[in-house]
Amino acid sequence: MRKLLEFLLFLALVPAFVRSVDPPLNYDVLGLIVFKADVKDPESKLVSWNEDDDNPCNWVGVRCNPRTNRVAELVLDGFSLSGRVGRGLLQLKFIRKLSLSKNNFTGTINPSLAQLDNLRIVDLSDNNFSGPIPNELFQQCSSLRVVSFARNNLSGEIPQSLSSCSTLTAVNFSSNQLSGSLPSGIWSLNGLRWLDLSDNLLEGEIPRGIEGSLPDSMQKLTMCTSLSLRGNSFVGEVPTWIGEIRNLQTLDLSGNRFSGQIPDSLGNLQSLEVLNLSGNGFSGSLPESMIHCKALYALDFSGNSLTGNFPAWIFGLDMQVPMLPENGPSGKIKDHSPSSVQPSFYNLHLLDLSDNAFSGEIPGNIGLLSNVQYLNMSRNSLVGGIPESIGELKTINVLDLSDNLLNGSIPSDIGGTVSLKELILEKNFLAGKIPIQIANCSSLTSLILSRNNLSGPIPVAIANLTNLQTVDLSLNNLTGTLPKQLANLPHLLLFNVSHNHLQGELPAGGIFNTISPSSVSDNPSLCGSIVHRSCPGVLPKPIVLNPNSSSDSPGVLSSSSNLRHKRIILSISALIAIGAAALIALGVIAVTVLNLQFRASTSHSAAALTLSGGDDFSHSPATDANSGKLVMFSGDPDFSAGAHALLNKDCELGRGGFGAVYQTFLRDGRPVAIKKLTVSSLVKSQDDFEREIKKLGKIRHQNLVALEGYYWTPSLQLLIYEFVSGGSLYKHLHEKAGGNSLSWHERFNIILGTAKSLAHLHRMNVIHYNLKSSNVLIDSSGEPKVGDFGLARLLPMLDRYVLSSKIQSALGYMAPEFACRTVKITEKCDVYGFGVLILEVVTGKRPVEYMEDDVVVLCDMVRGALEEGRVEECVDGRLGGNFPAEEAIPVMKLGLVCTSQVPSNRPDMAEVVNILELIRCPSEGQEELG
Ligand SMILES: *[C@@H]1O[C@H](CO)[C@@H](O)[C@H](O)[C@H]1NC(C)=O
Ligand SMILES: *[C@@H]1O[C@H](CO)[C@@H](O)[C@H](O)[C@H]1NC(C)=O
Ligand SMILES: *[C@@H]1O[C@H](CO)[C@@H](O)[C@H](O)[C@H]1NC(C)=O
Ligand SMILES: *[C@@H]1O[C@H](CO)[C@@H](O)[C@H](O)[C@H]1NC(C)=O
Ligand SMILES: *[C@@H]1O[C@H](CO)[C@@H](O)[C@H](O)[C@H]1NC(C)=O
Ligand SMILES: *[C@@H]1O[C@H](CO)[C@@H](O)[C@H](O)[C@H]1NC(C)=O
Repeated sequence: MRKLLEFLLFLALVPAFVRSVDPPLNYDVLGLIVFKADVKDPESKLVSWNEDDDNPCNWVGVRCNPRTNRVAELVLDGFSLSGRVGRGLLQLKFIRKLSLSKNNFTGTINPSLAQLDNLRIVDLSDNNFSGPIPNELFQQCSSLRVVSFARNNLSGEIPQSLSSCSTLTAVNFSSNQLSGSLPSGIWSLNGLRWLDLSDNLLEGEIPRGIEGSLPDSMQKLTMCTSLSLRGNSFVGEVPTWIGEIRNLQTLDLSGNRFSGQIPDSLGNLQSLEVLNLSGNGFSGSLPESMIHCKALYALDFSGNSLTGNFPAWIFGLDMQVPMLPENGPSGKIKDHSPSSVQPSFYNLHLLDLSDNAFSGEIPGNIGLLSNVQYLNMSRNSLVGGIPESIGELKTINVLDLSDNLLNGSIPSDIGGTVSLKELILEKNFLAGKIPIQIANCSSLTSLILSRNNLSGPIPVAIANLTNLQTVDLSLNNLTGTLPKQLANLPHLLLFNVSHNHLQGELPAGGIFNTISPSSVSDNPSLCGSIVHRSCPGVLPKPIVLNPNSSSDSPGVLSSSSNLRHKRIILSISALIAIGAAALIALGVIAVTVLNLQFRASTSHSAAALTLSGGDDFSHSPATDANSGKLVMFSGDPDFSAGAHALLNKDCELGRGGFGAVYQTFLRDGRPVAIKKLTVSSLVKSQDDFEREIKKLGKIRHQNLVALEGYYWTPSLQLLIYEFVSGGSLYKHLHEKAGGNSLSWHERFNIILGTAKSLAHLHRMNVIHYNLKSSNVLIDSSGEPKVGDFGLARLLPMLDRYVLSSKIQSALGYMAPEFACRTVKITEKCDVYGFGVLILEVVTGKRPVEYMEDDVVVLCDMVRGALEEGRVEECVDGRLGGNFPAEEAIPVMKLGLVCTSQVPSNRPDMAEVVNILELIRCPSEGQEELG
């Protein structure tokens, strides 16, 4: 095969030799096989091309003239071919149509294509051809009709020879890198119907044709139906003769630097359907002659400097029609009855007049544009009200009147625009209420009314608009409460009501779980955790003080009204400080009481355990039946021998909601951690206690601190845990001084290990209830081990009040449902705590940080940063930028999802583990090697 191809190639390069071969080869087969040899065909589209065939007429993409069996058409559109177009095609002497569109061909366009005398259509669009368009191509063109080189990478000037190729009807050079000016004779191409030169780098003025004899050359162009010079750098005025191209249906001059007046002669273009003059420097007013362009369908004048009164003629107000008497003395334009006036542009679907300097009022009969779908008049200087007839625009999808000087109210007739998807009226002076009829616009996805003077309540009916995605009502004077039903809108992504006068409680659920505080800010009477303002009758969520403490304790929040008043006056940070003081006081009392109790019990049970120190501990009667019960799950009951250090204060490891923890050693030298429960008065009966503890003892997982045993007396309970040497995550994150902070890899590993441990607990139907960074220990190899799990089971009942008071040290980790009596507490409360922990690990910040006069809640901060697109800045600065953003950002997003206000919106821990494993970059292992 390879040999044969090389031979054929050789033949192709020596045509004289080919002619002498006997029997004669089929030149088309030869040419196509040579062509095929040059291209890459990854999808084997050309597999049917076999050089042993007599002719190529049955090959894919090939059509022959049935009389001569010579190739007439080669159409290989979208075959994923790449490589260069070699000389092989030059053998196809009778080809009429060559179409290689939508491939990946590279290289230059071969000038020799001009040798193919019969070629009528060449379509090389959507490839990667580069270099100039060869001048030869059009020099002796005898049959070329259609040329498209659109969407390639061609550069250089448009060849002058183009003007001489008088057979051309369609030229499409759009989306290349062509530069320079238009060839001067281009308007003499009298057969040209489509000329698309858009999105190039062309410049200069539109050539005047042959100066002085304009009409002659122009009349030749009358066949042209489509002229696009979009997206170049043409300058100067649009020549008047453009109005002579009578068949013009599409005129697109957008995105150039044309200036001056829009020529009156456009009014001659009675077939004109699409006129796009946007993004130029046109000035002056719109020519009234355009009222004659009755076929217009899309009209875009946006982004110019057009001035003058609003072009009322667009709506059929022929200035010749005498004003009706009821128009009033001011001469203000009022409605004509629809029967008396035909709209000029009955067909108009798109009208964009935005970003100009039009003044005056919107004509009252705007409703006559009964087929309009897109109407944009934003960023002008329009005054007056929004006409009621707007409700007659039954087909409108987008109505944008923003950034004008409109006043009055939003007419209730807006309810008639039943197809409306986007209503944008921001930055005007609209007053009055938001009409409830807006609920009839059931397709509405965007409602942008910000920066007006709207007052009154937000209509509940808005909650019926289930397609809503964006609602911006900020910077108005809205009052009343936020309808709870808004939380049910399933697609809502943005909801901004900041800077109004709304009051009452923020709804829960839906968008309100993830809303950023800035979206509801500056509504002084709005309350709820997001705005850090407690609602009357609702305890502030992060501060739940012990209900059992004495009532004269300074931090207690009693429900008596004078104290509630006091609470409102006190700043949150003051409250926290008082609360902390009360806690410490309580702790001291509890320890003292326990000590006293214990001393009492030791005196008659002779238990040798002591709380105050090792000195008064002498020998080991722990096996004495009266002294209490010691159980080691591992079957090693000889625990007492090493007990001399037991509960020695010097060995205290830390304190938590359920008690202090001490380090000691078993007789075999193995270290263990002993937790002395300080909740003894709350603990269940011995039987219940032992049953629960045994259950917890069975739970083993490499990321859980193993519970090894327990010690029970009625007044003292000890839990014996595996000892983990590396200290708590809290210490690693918040107390370690110096540059020795956790690396990203270590942090990710901690997050993942913690997630696995919780997933395991939940599989065993155990809720942790008390997840926080001080309960996550790090072992010597950097693996996280979660401790303190399931201890709430030891409490006589799962009372959320007791729970929240026991877990109050875990400020910021507590799921909101703890504060809500009607929501059942499930394992999803651990997911919440885990979400907070994720954010804590990634940012290195505590869940709640107290500033002088401010409380920063970590998840709100990250959520806000995410919305502002700068979430990367939240990552712990101690990492010094040494982290993969493609891991850190999704991990933070996961943390936010886990901290959803509504439990059912949080993923379960098994899902979390899966997600984390997906997030972890596959390249990480390689990085470690390096
Ligand atoms: C062209 O090549 C590029 C990169 O080589 C590829 O992404 C693209 O899909 C190809 N396009 C076609 C039409 O084959
Ligand atoms: C097009 O070709 C140029 C080289 O001529 C190459 O650098 C570029 O990647 C190609 N583009 C595509 C989309 O294949
Ligand atoms: C166009 O060509 C230039 C240089 O040949 C190349 O760098 C660039 O990637 C090409 N552009 C496209 C879109 O292929
Ligand atoms: C020119 O070609 C581009 C790309 O194939 C196409 O989108 C455009 O509609 C064509 N222009 C005309 C006037 O047909
Ligand atoms: C909103 O929907 C509810 C139930 O579908 C219906 O009862 C109510 O009338 C609707 N409100 C408006 C203003 O359409
Ligand atoms: C807002 O509305 C109140 C009455 O509801 C009115 O007193 C006040 O002047 C309004 N403020 C503005 C800025 O319009």
